[in-house]
Amino acid sequence: MGDVAPPTDTLQPILGRDRELAALADLIGLGGSEPRSRSVLLAGDAGVGKTRLLRELVTRARDSGWRTLVGHCLDFGDSALPYLPFSEVFGRLALEAPAKGSASYIIAAADTVMNRSSAGLLEEVFPGVPLTRDVGEFGSLLATGRAREALGFVPQHSWRDYLAAS
Ligand SMILES: Nc1ncnc2c1ncn2[C@@H]1O[C@H](COP(=O)(O)OP(=O)(O)OP(=O)(O)O)[C@@H](O)[C@H]1O
Ligand SMILES: [Mg+2]
Repeated sequence: MGDVAPPTDTLQPILGRDRELAALADLIGLGGSEPRSRSVLLAGDAGVGKTRLLRELVTRARDSGWRTLVGHCLDFGDSALPYLPFSEVFGRLALEAPAKGSASYIIAAADTVMNRSSAGLLEEVFPGVPLTRDVGEFGSLLATGRAREALGFVPQHSWRDYLAAS
């Protein structure tokens, strides 16, 4: 599970959860000789720490050399985005896997939906990571230049239009 959302809270140490982490690690074979294929439903009250627990598991798996991919299910009113988990997982795989004879492109809007500047967000979430191009105030941090050059991709929609309409 590679993260799509920046895991800022993993900068703070996880408290407790030793038992749950050990159980999950054991279930998938982390630390053992063989990875195991398992499905887990992790349920709990809002804010109880489900995401934090999984991030810790992901960090430990990565530290052990595992490839980890994350896909999210989101439900925005009428739009349930049913394929989002798969597009996230395979998109990440396409970017990271050392596959030959293929090319990966990022397709994204040219701007963000945030009400804070992109440079400010970068500084907060990835402190010390330099901004390598001018993205303007709300420009996307996702680089679509390669898609633009190779595929002629031009973003058709702006997040700012949706913000203005809401
Ligand atoms: N064991 C923990 N140690 C330290 N911080 C934790 C721990 N569990 C949760 N937190 C912190 O508490 C906050 C809420 O946790 P988290 O987002 O994981 O909850 P959640 O169950 O995924 O919530 P939701 O149902 O809203 O998705 C986060 O800031 C997270 O970093
Ligand atoms: Mg959560």
